[in-house]
Amino acid sequence: MTQLYGGTGPIPRMTAPQFRALKGVRKLAALTAYDAPTAALLDSAGVDLLLVGDSIEMVVYGAADTLGASLDRMVGHARAVSGASRRALVVGDMPYLTYHTTPAEAVRNASRFVVEGGCRAVKLEGGAQRLVMIEAILNAEIPVMGHIGLTPQSIHALGGFKVQGRSRTEAERLLDDAQRLAEAGVFALVLECVPADLAAQITESVPVPTIGIGAGPYCDGQILVLHDLVGLTAPGARIPKFVKRYADVGSIIAEAAREYVKDVTEGAFPASEDGDRAVRKPAGEVVPFAAHHG
Ligand code: KIV
Repeated sequence: MTQLYGGTGPIPRMTAPQFRALKGVRKLAALTAYDAPTAALLDSAGVDLLLVGDSIEMVVYGAADTLGASLDRMVGHARAVSGASRRALVVGDMPYLTYHTTPAEAVRNASRFVVEGGCRAVKLEGGAQRLVMIEAILNAEIPVMGHIGLTPQSIHALGGFKVQGRSRTEAERLLDDAQRLAEAGVFALVLECVPADLAAQITESVPVPTIGIGAGPYCDGQILVLHDLVGLTAPGARIPKFVKRYADVGSIIAEAAREYVKDVTEGAFPASEDGDRAVRKPAGEVVPFAAHHG
């Protein structure tokens, strides 16, 4: 198998062409990431691609959909993710209305993810209707990841978060979209919420990796929203049925906060005899944290 990383020297960061070349070699693992510490953890866990997704608007900023994600904010999060990761391909997700007007505007907005955000590629939603924008961004030497099926930026047009491609006409359209995007030069294609047999058909018919989310097991790789994967969600939040939850970070945070509140309110933290913590001496002099470690 071609070794795309490593040897003994520093690990080079994955490029879009390398990611694409892994189709048929092994399955690809992608996750969303929005901040530096999480990006560092996911990167060292071996995640191939970190998507600074506009899902941030829902899982971090608490909105009901992704439509309000702003380019400035996303570029800032992209900078944090790129700066904290070393090997994963970092992809900036273009927010709603940043690539819908003119090709020139789409290129300018995509370039901010590369120049300011340190990303090596961008992702944008939509099929054949986005080809002009995709081609313009590719002509500006920025690799593009496509995204078809349930495209959350189209929820009002689609009538909600629904599985796509169930009817024969829809399935044929999605297959055609996938082929046209691949011909245009996208390096990978997200398939969101499409039936598994359609995802399998698309996967077989395009030369680029398909990355599924709610699209069954036959894609070339998978992506999930990190917060869903680790259970970092508000109580009562709606989690898509296809998510496999690998941890319950929400309960760990809630329990830690409950213990902290109890300790503070009962005077158990900070403890004056606890040498690891700042202690206000009776005279009012604060002994800094670092002094206890000197
Ligand atoms: O914004 C996002 O997180 C995404 C993934 C769900 C593919 O687009």
